[in-house]
Amino acid sequence: MRIAVVGGGPAGLYLSILMRKIRPECELTVFERGAASDAFGFGVVFSDETLTVFEHADPETYSQIAERFTRWSDIDIHHRGSATTSGGHGFSAIGRRELLRILQERAVALGADVRFSTPAPAVAELGWADLIVGADGASSAVRSAMTRDFVPSLDRRRCRYIWLGTDLVFEAFKFFIAETEHGVVQAHAYPYDEGMSTFIVEMHERTWKRLGLGEMAVDDSVAWCLELFADALSGHRLYSNKSRWINFVTVRNRRWCVENVVLLGDAAHTAHFSIGSGTKLAMEDAVALAWAFRSFGDDVFAATAAYEAERRPIVESTQRAAQASLEWFEGIGRYVDQERLQFAFNLLTRSRRVTYDNLRLRDPEFVRSVHPDPRPPMFTPLRLRGLELPNRVVVSPMDMYSAVEGTPGDFHLVHLGARALGGAGLVMTEMICVSDIGRITPGCAGMYRPEHVSAWARIVEFAHAHGGAAVGAQIGHSGRKGSTRLMWEGMDEPLAAGQNWEVIAPSAVRYGTRSQLPRAMTREDMEIVRDQFVSACRGAAQAGFDLLELHMAHGYLLSSFLSPVANLRDDEYGGSLECRARFPLEVLDACRAVWPADKPLGVRISATDWVDGGFDPDQAVAFARMLREHGCDVVDVSSGQVTPMEKPAFGRSYQTPFADRIRHEVGIPTIAVGAISSYDDVNTIIAAGRADLCALARPHLYDPNWTLHAAAEQEYDLVQWAPQYRAGSRKPPAGRDRVRSELERTFEEVALARDP
Ligand SMILES: Cc1cc2nc3c(=O)[nH]c(=O)nc-3n(C[C@H](O)[C@H](O)[C@H](O)COP(=O)(O)OP(=O)(O)OC[C@H]3O[C@@H](n4cnc5c(N)ncnc54)[C@H](O)[C@@H]3O)c2cc1C
Ligand SMILES: Cc1cc2nc3c(=O)[nH]c(=O)nc-3n(C[C@H](O)[C@H](O)[C@H](O)COP(=O)(O)O)c2cc1C
Repeated sequence: MRIAVVGGGPAGLYLSILMRKIRPECELTVFERGAASDAFGFGVVFSDETLTVFEHADPETYSQIAERFTRWSDIDIHHRGSATTSGGHGFSAIGRRELLRILQERAVALGADVRFSTPAPAVAELGWADLIVGADGASSAVRSAMTRDFVPSLDRRRCRYIWLGTDLVFEAFKFFIAETEHGVVQAHAYPYDEGMSTFIVEMHERTWKRLGLGEMAVDDSVAWCLELFADALSGHRLYSNKSRWINFVTVRNRRWCVENVVLLGDAAHTAHFSIGSGTKLAMEDAVALAWAFRSFGDDVFAATAAYEAERRPIVESTQRAAQASLEWFEGIGRYVDQERLQFAFNLLTRSRRVTYDNLRLRDPEFVRSVHPDPRPPMFTPLRLRGLELPNRVVVSPMDMYSAVEGTPGDFHLVHLGARALGGAGLVMTEMICVSDIGRITPGCAGMYRPEHVSAWARIVEFAHAHGGAAVGAQIGHSGRKGSTRLMWEGMDEPLAAGQNWEVIAPSAVRYGTRSQLPRAMTREDMEIVRDQFVSACRGAAQAGFDLLELHMAHGYLLSSFLSPVANLRDDEYGGSLECRARFPLEVLDACRAVWPADKPLGVRISATDWVDGGFDPDQAVAFARMLREHGCDVVDVSSGQVTPMEKPAFGRSYQTPFADRIRHEVGIPTIAVGAISSYDDVNTIIAAGRADLCALARPHLYDPNWTLHAAAEQEYDLVQWAPQYRAGSRKPPAGRDRVRSELERTFEEVALARDP
C-alpha cells in the first residue's frame, strides 16, 4: 500500500509511526513544508487520563515522551491580588518542538520517508497513493481542495490570543486574570520543561481592539503583555515563536473521509486550547486510523469509514466541552465580580466536564472552602419574595395532554401529587391555558372556567398537605401552535378536518408548512387575551398556587410576539425588541397587578430561536432586563421551539449558559433547564452561580422521587420524606442478602415504633 501523508505535525507523524509498525511493507511518504526544527508554539499539555492510549499504541515513543514530561497537579487562579489553588488534577506537558523531534525520529527509524521543507503536491497530483491523509492542520489545503466533499464549517471565535513562552518555570497550571479599562485579559500558563513555560494571552476581540493591540507591531504588543503581567512574570521574559494575535477557529467537517482521502487531527476538527486537547485528539485519530487498517487490511474505504465512526462521537463530545470552555472565556467579564472562591470554582467547571463531584474527589478541601455549608448546594434554600423554597430542584412544566374540556383530573392529581412527594422544592404545572382557543390540544388544561379553579385547588391542597414542595402554575396561550393533536397522536399536527379552531398570532405566519394559517391579532384581540391572562392569574391565586410563571417561550403566543421570525407586524407591537416586547410586558404588568404581592412571578423564555435573524441571546438579556423592571422575580431560561427551521446545539445542560448570562448581566435569579439530569450537574450549576434553580423535566418522568433519591445518594438526611414513605428512605445496599437484612431491620424499626 502506498500512503501519502500531507503534514508532519503530531497527527501525520504519529500515523506514520503506527502504520509503519503494523504494515512494514507500506510505502509511506510524509510531506512537511517546514524544516525539521520548525515548530510553532511552545509546550503542549496532556491530562493524565489521556496517556494510556499512547502507552499501548507505541511504548517506544511513549517512554521517550514520558521521560521528558513535566508533571504537576495544581491549578492556581490568580485574580485581584490573590491566588486560589485547586489540587489533584494531574497534567503532563512537553515542548512542542521536543514532541515533534521524538515523533520525527521514530517515524524515520521505522522507515517512513519524511520530506521536510517540502510542500505537498496538490491532491490531484497524489493519484499514485492508495491512501491520502490530510494531516495538514487547521488551515488544511487538502480539505480546501475538496470542500464540496468534506463540507467544512469554520467558526471563527470572538477572542484574540497569542501563544508565547516564558523562561519562568511555573509550578502549576496558572490562570492570571488581569482587568484593564477596556476589559479582561487572561493568561493561560503552564511549565513544559526545566527552563520554560507556555504563556498564552487571550482577550475578547473588542478588548483587543480598544487596547490598540491590533495596531501595534507584534513585538510591541508582547512588551505590553509583559508589562500587564509583570507581577506574574516576576522579572522574567516573554518569548514569541512565529507568534501572532489570532482568533481561534473551531473546525468541523460533515465528512472526514471521501474515497481514499481522509482528514486527521486539526484538519478534521479543532478544540479550543483552553481544554488542552488538540494534540491528544490528533494523536488519538492516528491510533484509530492505524487500528482500523489492522482490522480491514487493504480495504481503504472500510478502514477510513470505521475510523470516522469510532472517532466522531468522541471528538464531538470534546468539541462540546471545548465550546463551553471558549464561550466561558469569551464572557469572562461577567464573572470577575464573583466572590474569589466561587469564581475559581466557576472557572474550573467551565467545560461542564469537571464537576462538583469530580472536584470533591480531586481536592475535597478546595470544594469545602467553596461551599462550606454542610448541605450539598442543591439542598440550600432559596427565597423569592415571600416564598422560601427548601431546595433548588424544580419539576419543569410538562403538558400531560390529559385534561377534559380544560379540567385537570385524577391523572393530574396523581402525576403532580407524586412529584410533590418526590422532594423537589418547586413543582410546576404544565402550561395552563387562558382560554379554550389558547389550548395547544384538546387535552390541554385551562383556567378559564370556575370548575378549573376548584380542580386545580384540589391538586394544590394535596401537594401542600403532603410533602414540602411549593406548587407553581404556568399560564400561557398557544397562539399559532394551537389547535393541534395530542403529543402521541402527532406533535404540532393540526386536528382532523372540521375539528380545528381559529388560531391567532402577532402575524399571519404559519408555524410549520402543515400548520394552520393564524389570524393576525387586532388591538382588541390583545385586550381580550390580556384580560384572559388576568382572569387565569386570579384563578391561580384562588387555587392557592405559590408561584406564577408566564409562558413566553417555545413559540406560543407571547413568545411569538418576541420572535422576529413570527412577529412581522409594522405597528407598535412589531419591529424593534422594545416593540415586540410591548404586548408580553402589558400582560406581565396586568398579571403582576393582580397576583399577590408576596408571591413570586416568573417568566419562561426561549433565549434563542436557533435560527439566523431570530430572537437571540443578546435580545434575551435585553428582554430579561425589561422583565426585571416590570416586577418579574425569576426567569426560567429555555430555548427554541419557535420555528421548525431551528438548529439547536443539544448537549449536556446546553441551555444553562443562557441562564448564566442573564443571571450575571441582568442580576435577576434564573432557572436553568434542559438536559440537566444528574445531581452532580445541579450541584455544579448552583455552586458555580450559573443559575439559582435547576428545572428537570424528563428525569422527573423517569423518577418522580428524583430529589429524594439524589439526597439518599449524597447521604443527606434532611429532606422531607412523606411519613408514609419514610421506612423506604434508606437506599438498600447492593446484594440480595444485604437488601433482605436491611429490609428486616427496617421492619423491626417500624414494629418497634408501633409497639416500643
Ligand atoms: C495556542 C495554542 C495552544 C495549544 N495548546 C495545546 C495544548 O496545550 N495541548 C494540546 O494537546 N494541544 C494544544 N494545541 C493544539 C495543537 O497544537 C493542535 O491541535 C495539534 O498541533 C494538531 O496536530 P495536527 O498534526 O493535526 O496539526 P498541526 O500541528 O497543525 O500540523 C500540521 C502540519 O502540516 C504542515 N502543513 C500544512 N500544510 C502543508 C502543506 N501544504 N504541505 C506540507 N505540509 C503542510 C504544517 O507545517 C504542520 O507541521 C494548541 C493550539 C494552539 C493554537
Ligand atoms: C412531555 C413534556 C411536556 C412538556 N410540556 C411543557 C409545558 O407545558 N410547558 C413548558 O414550558 N415546557 C414543557 N416541556 C419542556 C420541559 O419543561 C423542559 O423545558 C424540557 O423537557 C427540557 O428539560 P429536560 O431535558 O429536563 O427534559 C415539556 C417537556 C416534556 C418532556
